[in-house]
Amino acid sequence: MCGIIGYTGNENSVPILVEGLRALEYRGYDSAGISVQEDKIITVKTKGRLDDLAKKLEEHTDLSSGCGIGHTRWATHGEPSDRNSHPHRGKHLSMVHNGIIENYAEIADMLKKIGYVLESETDTEIAAKLIDSFYDECHDPLKAIFSATEIIRGSYAFAIIFEDIPHKIYAIRKDNPLIVASSENGGFIASDIPAILKYTRTYFRIDENVVAELDGANIDFYSSSRNKIAQPIETVDWDIEQAQKGGFPHFMVKEINDEPSAVRKTVSAYQQDDLPHFGIEKIDSDFICKFKSINIIACGTAMHAGLVGKYVIEKFARVPVNVDVASEFRYRDPILSSDDLVILVSQSGETADTLAALRLSKEAGAYTLAIVNVVGSSIAREADSVIYTLAGPEISVASTKAYSVQCAVVYMFALRLALARNKISVEQARKLCVSLQTSVPDAITNVIKFGSKIRSVSKKYINAEHIFFIGRGVDSYLGTEGSLKLKEISYIHCEAYAAGELKHGTISLISEGTPVVAITTQSNVCEKTISGIREVKARGAVVLSICTRSIAEEYNIPCDDMIVIPDTEIDDIDNVLDPFACATALQLLAYHVSELKGLDVDKPRNLAKSVTVE
Ligand code: F6R
Repeated sequence: MCGIIGYTGNENSVPILVEGLRALEYRGYDSAGISVQEDKIITVKTKGRLDDLAKKLEEHTDLSSGCGIGHTRWATHGEPSDRNSHPHRGKHLSMVHNGIIENYAEIADMLKKIGYVLESETDTEIAAKLIDSFYDECHDPLKAIFSATEIIRGSYAFAIIFEDIPHKIYAIRKDNPLIVASSENGGFIASDIPAILKYTRTYFRIDENVVAELDGANIDFYSSSRNKIAQPIETVDWDIEQAQKGGFPHFMVKEINDEPSAVRKTVSAYQQDDLPHFGIEKIDSDFICKFKSINIIACGTAMHAGLVGKYVIEKFARVPVNVDVASEFRYRDPILSSDDLVILVSQSGETADTLAALRLSKEAGAYTLAIVNVVGSSIAREADSVIYTLAGPEISVASTKAYSVQCAVVYMFALRLALARNKISVEQARKLCVSLQTSVPDAITNVIKFGSKIRSVSKKYINAEHIFFIGRGVDSYLGTEGSLKLKEISYIHCEAYAAGELKHGTISLISEGTPVVAITTQSNVCEKTISGIREVKARGAVVLSICTRSIAEEYNIPCDDMIVIPDTEIDDIDNVLDPFACATALQLLAYHVSELKGLDVDKPRNLAKSVTVE
């Protein structure tokens, strides 16, 4: 979503702000701007990319200030335009904001009545002017900020500079991430770690309803009663290199290449003696057996990992699993009680709908378990228990390695539950656990190795207008993720269907030349999918089959192209681990179609990395 950076110290803030914003570019944005304090506040902002901002800043070569704030905006209220870009001004202040102010219309009326003239269509300007109106009366920044946040409804991370308070930045947040940090260079504020990593590895994640005041490297925190309070210091547990492309042309392909080690690392961290072990008292006890049903709630790709979770938990542990998109779950008055386990899956740990679903589940008395990648994120902090996926930072907007490790964790959780419920033998669980650490990463590596073959198949798809994905069982869940990945970065209309549903409507869309990607990794249903393939072929579809080597050898799949993935078999349990390598093949297909089309793979249009607004 939008990005925030702020700097106060002895150096010129302008290049620091622009560089900080560049480190946050991956979050997605459509305009950018900065405000710096000289003897007055100077704001430079523009619609477009950071290069457009840099160009505009060339007209201000004399701009040099030790204190400033910057922002990349992803439009919510009002189109992307210079005027709607942040920072926004009040008489006394300049402010940047991530989030959404829900009661902005009401506040706007209030402000107009007291003589404020609004210059933009944004909710941010209204919040800025509301704080400004209080400051106008009291000239006390803390009082003004807390008075305004008592009125504001919605989600926000604010960074504010006041014209008559040189060198200081103020910040407050609610339901949006915001961190502050200091180094010998000065004090920093940012919406995400990459923006500050060049300067320091330690930071504070500001608690909700706490104001951070930065005066150079000195940082104070204030509660709403305006008493100084302490905030726990946290340390970044990954390196700056992990947030760089490492010689790859795009973050997405770099992150796909990270998958074998990320899966190995995650599974190894959650095993003991080659059996699942999460080191969380409740999860390692019979407590998990008491749940009558499990809800897995998430958004987008994380929700698709939840679908894989449904497959594997039901298969091994024999507990019914409901998977729901968080934005639906939260508004459908879900039936929950203390007999339910709710698993929230999120890479960022900040997705607004998933966070709301977590809160609702807790209120209803359900036990909440978060599977999250970002340490210390809101979902991780608020859930009853958390299992971290160890993917390292994921920069590309299209999620890849986070999905693979989310799947790895749900497999481990399924095995843990199956053992607790005596639904699997220790020997079988151990075999699977070892394979998740060895054969699965190896199979993914193999798929990555024949990436050039996937690239040459991808060429066929660059001019497609529609692509359909079909499969059955867990293959249909993989199709759903493959379809999302391809559509979000190639802008080709893609749809995924359970192959058995074709004749209930979808097949009418198939005509001469329609591309269909057919996934067959599961031997128990592959004949059924192959019937579906015959049906679409008979209507002129051009079929790309993605299948395991054993299925390719055993069945004569009627197709135009084939991507064969290695089998990740373990003695007596067929195909259960094959989804991992297949997912990687689908990610590479999406990646190559996008890069061959010359699109901005890592920053697809209209999308943001972390969706902190509803
Ligand atoms: C797609 C993608 C999104 C996210 C979704 C949830 O490639 O990345 O669909 O999966 O926005 O985000 P998190 O996992 O951060 O909750």
